[in-house]
Amino acid sequence: MIEGRGQQQSFAMRAMRGEAMPVPLAPHLLSSPLEYLYADHLRQRSVCAILRRIAAEGRVAAHEAAALASFLERDLILHHEDEERGLFPLIIKRSAGEDRLEADLARLAQDHKRVRPQIMRLADILTHAAPEIGTADAPLFTGFAAHELRHLAFESGVVLPIARVRLTRKDITELSRDMRARRGIAAP
Ligand SMILES: [Fe+2]
Ligand SMILES: [Fe+2]
Repeated sequence: MIEGRGQQQSFAMRAMRGEAMPVPLAPHLLSSPLEYLYADHLRQRSVCAILRRIAAEGRVAAHEAAALASFLERDLILHHEDEERGLFPLIIKRSAGEDRLEADLARLAQDHKRVRPQIMRLADILTHAAPEIGTADAPLFTGFAAHELRHLAFESGVVLPIARVRLTRKDITELSRDMRARRGIAAP
């Protein structure tokens, strides 16, 4: 379980090598929702590295396949909802009249919708086809990973820094409450 910054950094190193499985985030991180979203991006990067490795090797261990399928179907979908229903509307509220930013956030939400069938297909393959991943499926793994890495780079590099500057304390509390409710976790 990732508890804080130090663990995030060592996780990031292993993630870049495609070695780190997507371990759960500590629930108390939900008190700092922007940190939680950033940590979730690190987990998603690790998943992309693992998907690339699996495509290259053509094999996946059963426990790894199950963990990846669960991450894709549950954690990643929750993350998309955190952004579409929580983070993006708050940024728009604090950035009135910035058409370019609104267009960027609409594009990111559209990305989520567009990759949804790929997420479900990947989860299905990982659940049913493991341990052998056919060469015909490899482009789905690598294509999804490439798309996700571009999406993540923009969100971590542009969207979250803007949110850190513009969201008020009340916004952060609201976002935290929203993300807790989505996961059925009571406030501390
Ligand atoms: Fe996103
Ligand atoms: Fe994201």
